[in-house]
Amino acid sequence: MVKQIFEKPVGSEQPRSLELRGKQGSPTRTLQIVAGFAIIWAVAMALTMALRSGPVPSAPTLGPPGGDHCHQGEPPDEGGESPGDNNSCSFVLVESLPLDMPYAASSPEGQPIAQTWGRLLEMARESVHVASYYWSLTGADVGVNDSSSQLGEEILKKLESLPARNVSLLVVGSIPTLALASEDLRVLERAGAQVRRVNLGRLTQGVLHSKFWVVDMRHIYLGSANMDWRSLTQVKELGAVIYNCSRLARDLWKIFQTYWDLGTPGAAIPPSWPQNYSTSINSHRPLDVDFNGTAAEAFLAASPPALCPQGRTHDLAALLQGIREAQEFVHISVMEYFPTTRFQQPPRYWPVIDNALRAAAFNRNVPIRLLVSCGVDTDPSMFAYLRSLRALHHPEANVTVEVKVFIVPIKNHSNVPFGRLNHSKYMVTETVVYIGTSNWSEDYFSNTAGVGLVLRPKASDPQGRRWAARQLVQRVFDRDWSSDYAVSLEDLPGHPDCACT
Ligand SMILES: *[C@@H]1O[C@H](CO)[C@@H](O)[C@H](O)[C@H]1NC(C)=O
Ligand SMILES: *[C@@H]1O[C@H](CO)[C@@H](O)[C@H](O)[C@H]1NC(C)=O
Ligand SMILES: *[C@@H]1O[C@H](CO)[C@@H](O)[C@H](O)[C@H]1NC(C)=O
Ligand SMILES: *[C@@H]1O[C@H](CO)[C@@H](O)[C@H](O)[C@H]1NC(C)=O
Ligand SMILES: *[C@@H]1O[C@H](CO)[C@@H](O)[C@H](O)[C@H]1NC(C)=O
Ligand SMILES: *[C@@H]1O[C@H](CO)[C@@H](O)[C@H](O)[C@H]1NC(C)=O
Ligand SMILES: *[C@@H]1O[C@H](CO)[C@@H](O)[C@H](O)[C@H]1NC(C)=O
Ligand SMILES: *[C@@H]1O[C@H](CO)[C@@H](O)[C@H](O)[C@H]1NC(C)=O
Ligand SMILES: *[C@@H]1O[C@H](CO)[C@@H](O)[C@H](O)[C@H]1NC(C)=O
Ligand SMILES: *[C@@H]1O[C@H](CO)[C@@H](O)[C@H](O)[C@H]1NC(C)=O
Repeated sequence: MVKQIFEKPVGSEQPRSLELRGKQGSPTRTLQIVAGFAIIWAVAMALTMALRSGPVPSAPTLGPPGGDHCHQGEPPDEGGESPGDNNSCSFVLVESLPLDMPYAASSPEGQPIAQTWGRLLEMARESVHVASYYWSLTGADVGVNDSSSQLGEEILKKLESLPARNVSLLVVGSIPTLALASEDLRVLERAGAQVRRVNLGRLTQGVLHSKFWVVDMRHIYLGSANMDWRSLTQVKELGAVIYNCSRLARDLWKIFQTYWDLGTPGAAIPPSWPQNYSTSINSHRPLDVDFNGTAAEAFLAASPPALCPQGRTHDLAALLQGIREAQEFVHISVMEYFPTTRFQQPPRYWPVIDNALRAAAFNRNVPIRLLVSCGVDTDPSMFAYLRSLRALHHPEANVTVEVKVFIVPIKNHSNVPFGRLNHSKYMVTETVVYIGTSNWSEDYFSNTAGVGLVLRPKASDPQGRRWAARQLVQRVFDRDWSSDYAVSLEDLPGHPDCACT
């Protein structure tokens, strides 16, 4: 029996500190609007199967709720650069488009994730670090016999061959996880991979939801795709690969290392992370990078607060900053949008992001477009919040708030559970792009481990706004927004492939 599992943080009490931080998160920043780009985030989806494993052992709460994590205080100094480390990086947008969605197949903007993953693994010479939520790269992992699982199976083979090539493979996964019958991690361990599982259910009442790779400490992948064959052929996903970017790669590795250390038996979140986990790369002091010849800035943000060592920007703060700095438009694509908690009892209203969007639309006349996803398993209560947000729309008063629902047609793929969904999570403004790992509701920022990458062209660069990478993400959004699969709220009722109607 196939059942959907929500990425449900177990337990009920959560630190309230995040909410406060959300409000303080963007302190007196008098910035000129930074020409911006992207927060790229990894995220996920509970595409899955099986299990419904009952409550996960719940336990002590996380670290210091009032701790000074994820602040943006004075960072330590980063050591010098390694030789050959000139921050001249190349940025590639990657996408998975579900099979049988011809609209996008004819106008792919990103490179296919499956192909890019394969290339990264072939390129690896020394090490591959993978942060993951769950594994189901084979059809057998989820009890499905479908030819579309083949690409995932090929990726698993490539991963399996790394240790024999003297490339160390380090994988960190989550407890709780999904696809419990999966053999993938055991296969990799037998091949010589080092695997650790982080019990975030116990540590933060959440899950490890990050999805990223660090290859040879120089190249990174970060995006919404899980280590799941469906993320390559059945689910809409979006991510970024950045080649030859060792400083950013080392910074992402520091995030990996926080998970790695928490993956030992009985590990506890330290009240304060040791100094070598801190970063000097954050929203206040982004890294100067040359992306495909354009001067840009980049930083990585993380959640939850307890997993942010000194200097690390919290992902919610990064996201809110992107909204607050927008002057011309905010375009958002998320799987799920709730201005509430999702998994706590009693539920709590949490309008942190919602307010930021309303304020941008009302106070600054910034047009907002929100594209959410709907599948057969979507919780229909989401639509009340979407209608509420959209109620602000008042073009005569120059307040523009548009909402559409993206529906991936099931067609003849009903044999693939939790496949036909839009899983991408990103935001693009005239200056910033955010590609995330989280649904937009409180729990994902307070309990769940995620990571985001923010990229923006340097404000001082007159070409900044025309930066190809930002424009690419914008084209992807425009393509999807104007496709037949994006349905307005009025046209939803009766749609066969969306539960929300
Ligand atoms: C987002 O919401 C969907 C639908 O509730 C759920 O299946 C999925 O696991 C959630 N989490 C993420 C990170 O996508
Ligand atoms: C940085 O390195 C790349 C590749 O090694 C090279 O093409 C580029 O010219 C270098 N940039 C600078 C500013 O030295
Ligand atoms: C999967 O399906 C194909 C044809 O649809 C069949 O030939 C094959 O034996 C099946 N494999 C398994 C393991 O059931
Ligand atoms: C892997 O490393 C070992 C020890 O350094 C060496 O003997 C072996 O030849 C290497 N194998 C390959 C495939 O490079
Ligand atoms: C990375 O830089 C090296 C030179 O330092 C170059 O040969 C290689 O093609 C670059 N890789 C990518 C993917 O751009
Ligand atoms: C920090 O230093 C400790 C002790 O040397 C080491 O075990 C750990 O891996 C280091 N962590 C990072 C992120 O460098
Ligand atoms: C509407 O808002 C936009 C964005 O701030 C602004 O450029 C434009 O001038 C406004 N139009 C009117 C009629 O107020
Ligand atoms: C689904 O339909 C497409 C064409 O519309 C076809 O190519 C594919 O083989 C079909 N798949 C299955 C599992 O029936
Ligand atoms: C998923 O969201 C992206 C983000 O805009 C959207 O472009 C795409 O059409 C959606 N795809 C699916 C399958 O829902
Ligand atoms: C950056 O350069 C890489 C390698 O040449 C290319 O594949 C990619 O499309 C470029 N990215 C953008 C945004 O132009």
